[in-house]
Amino acid sequence: PGKRPLQNKKVLISAGPTREALDPVRYLSNRSSGKMGYAIAKAAQKAGASVTLVSGPVNLPAPNDIERIDVESALQMYDAIVPRASAYDIYIGAAAVADYRPAEIQPHKIKKQQTDSVIHLQRNPDIVADVAALARKPFVVGFAAETDDLDTYALNKMRDKKLDMIAANWVGKLTGGFDSDLNALKVFWPDGGKTLAMTDKQQLAEQLIALIAERIDEKNTA
Ligand code: C5P
Repeated sequence: PGKRPLQNKKVLISAGPTREALDPVRYLSNRSSGKMGYAIAKAAQKAGASVTLVSGPVNLPAPNDIERIDVESALQMYDAIVPRASAYDIYIGAAAVADYRPAEIQPHKIKKQQTDSVIHLQRNPDIVADVAALARKPFVVGFAAETDDLDTYALNKMRDKKLDMIAANWVGKLTGGFDSDLNALKVFWPDGGKTLAMTDKQQLAEQLIALIAERIDEKNTA
């Protein structure tokens, strides 16, 4: 593979949280800084790829020479990704997409009531699963952030969503994950896996990109 193992490859990456509006001033969201997805975008570019980053709202600068498409909601992220994904060689879903959105967005600010209130939530579509179901599909990499039974949940997600690879990390236990600059990953593919030890997210992203490049080479020469 050499130093630029993704030369001539087009890579599409999602990063950050999504925001699901309740009314013009309120939303439901996820705890995601976007750091891992942005680190992966830089690592892919360093490996020679041409990179498109679809980003939810984050406090990170746009990386140089990377095409960035800004979105807010899961539905906007879906529309920015699924229709163009067939034109890419690799899709890496690093965004923390909200699983649900408020069933209705109120056009005016919701007023306080004397009683408790109920929000009706509707399922969002699964972006990474729909990319993996495309007739002409890229090599698809998903993430699994889990508080329990990391391997089992990650392997089930890879199977159910028909992913080529899944990168799993603990959240809410050790240091790392979420807002941290550090992370550790357990990476699985259908016939193997590798643990990437705790390090800074940029190092980890470069190791993940190297693994993806190896897997694509193996698939192409198999
Ligand atoms: O099922 P879960 O949300 O834990 O799966 C995480 C993986 O699925 C991540 O790669 C995430 O980006 C992706 N995902 C998605 N669309 C959703 C929910 C999750 O692409 N609606």
